[in-house]
Amino acid sequence: MDHRVFITGGAGFIGSNFIRYLRRTTSDIGILNFDKLTYAGNLKNLEGESSPKHYTFVRGDICDKNEVSTQFREFRPDIVINFAAESHVDRSILDASEFLRTNVIGVQVLLDAAMKFGASKFIQISTDEVYGSLGSEGLFSESSPLNPRSPYSASKASADLLTLAYASTYGFPVNITRSTNNYGPYQFPEKLIPLTILHCLQKKKIPVYGDGLNVRDWIFVDDHCSAIEAVIERGRAGEVYNIGAHNEMTNISVVRSIIRSVSALRPELDISDGLISFVEDRPGHDRRYAIDSSKIRRDLGWRPGVSFADGLDRTIRWYIDNPGWVSSLLNQEYRTYYDQNYGPKIRLR
Ligand code: NAD
Ligand code: TYD
Repeated sequence: MDHRVFITGGAGFIGSNFIRYLRRTTSDIGILNFDKLTYAGNLKNLEGESSPKHYTFVRGDICDKNEVSTQFREFRPDIVINFAAESHVDRSILDASEFLRTNVIGVQVLLDAAMKFGASKFIQISTDEVYGSLGSEGLFSESSPLNPRSPYSASKASADLLTLAYASTYGFPVNITRSTNNYGPYQFPEKLIPLTILHCLQKKKIPVYGDGLNVRDWIFVDDHCSAIEAVIERGRAGEVYNIGAHNEMTNISVVRSIIRSVSALRPELDISDGLISFVEDRPGHDRRYAIDSSKIRRDLGWRPGVSFADGLDRTIRWYIDNPGWVSSLLNQEYRTYYDQNYGPKIRLR
C-alpha cells in the first residue's frame, strides 16, 4: 500500500485496532486519525505504538464542516475510512440525538469533503444491524432489505443510503462494509463481551437481557481489519461487502464460555454461572444476526483467520493483563450511564 488515509474514529475500538493493524502490515502509508474523543474514544488505545513516521492525530468532530475541510485541504487523502460513530444500541435507546448527528450528518460532511478534495475511495464502516432481525433460519446477504429496528441501526442504515446515493448521483467511488459483532482488545466495557469479562473479574452480577437466547454472529476485530484492508486494495467502486466469520452464538452461551475461561485463568476468584442475572429485555431487541460473507470471500479472496475460541482467549487475557486501561474508563460518566441503563432493567424484573 502507498496511500494517504484519513481515518475517523481511530481512537475507538475498531479504529484503533485498524491503525495498529496497518502499522503491523504496511510501511508506506500516511495516516491522519480524526477523532472527537467522546466517552468511547481513548488515546490510550494507541499507546505503545512506536511513534509512526507518517501518523497524525487531530481532535475534531466529523460534523464540523470547517474543521473537516481544513484537514482535507492540508492532508489530501486518497482514501477515507469512516469508523466514527455513536455505536451502542442501549445508549441510542436512551437518547438518539447524537446518533443522528454523528452517524448521519457527520457522514454527509465527510462525503462532501472527500468528494471536493478528490479522494479516490470512501469506505463507510457499517454494520449487519442495518438488515434488522432474523428468525431461526437464513442469513443476511448484501441484497437483503434494510430493516433497521433500533435508533442506532436506523442511523447507520441512513448513512448507508446516503453513501450509496453519492455513488449514484455523483459517481463517487464508495464502498460500504457491513460487519457482524466485533470483539477483541480495547473494546469499551459497555458491550456484551468486555462487560462480561469485567464483571467476572470484579465478581459482579452479569446482566443478561431477556431469555439470553438472542443470537449474535461474532468476528475477532483483526479479521474485520483484514477485510477492510481487502476492500481498500481490491474493493470495486460502489459495492457493499458483508463481513463475517460464521460464529453464531446465543448470548447465554457466550457468557458461560467467558465465565469458564476466566475461572480457569483466575481460579482464586472462585466464580461460577451463579454470577448470571437475567434482567428485563432490551426494547426492540433483535433476535438473531447472521451474515453471509461469501461475496467478499469470493470476489476479494478474504478469509477470517481467528477461531472464536482463540479470539475469546486472547481477548480475556488482554483484559486480565490491562487492568489500568479498564479502570481508567470506570469514571462518573460510565457509572451514570450504567445506572440509567441497568437500574430500571433490574428493578422491572
Ligand atoms: P466505538 O464507539 O468504540 O468508537 C467510535 C469512535 O468514534 C470513538 O473514538 C469516538 O470518539 C469517535 N467519534 C464519535 N463521534 C464522533 C464525531 N462526531 N466526530 C469524530 N469522532 C467521533 O465504536 P467501534 O465499536 O469501534 O465501531 C466503529 C465503527 O464500526 C462504527 O461505525 C460502528 O457502527 C461500526 N461497527 C461496529 C461493530 C462492533 O461490533 N463494535 C460491528 C459492526 C460495525
Ligand atoms: P451488544 O454488545 O450491545 O451489541 P449489539 O447490541 O450491537 O449486538 O450486545 C450483544 C448482545 O448481548 C445483544 O443481544 C444484547 C445482549 N446484551 C445483554 O444481554 N446484556 C448486556 O448487558 C449487554 C450490553 C448486551
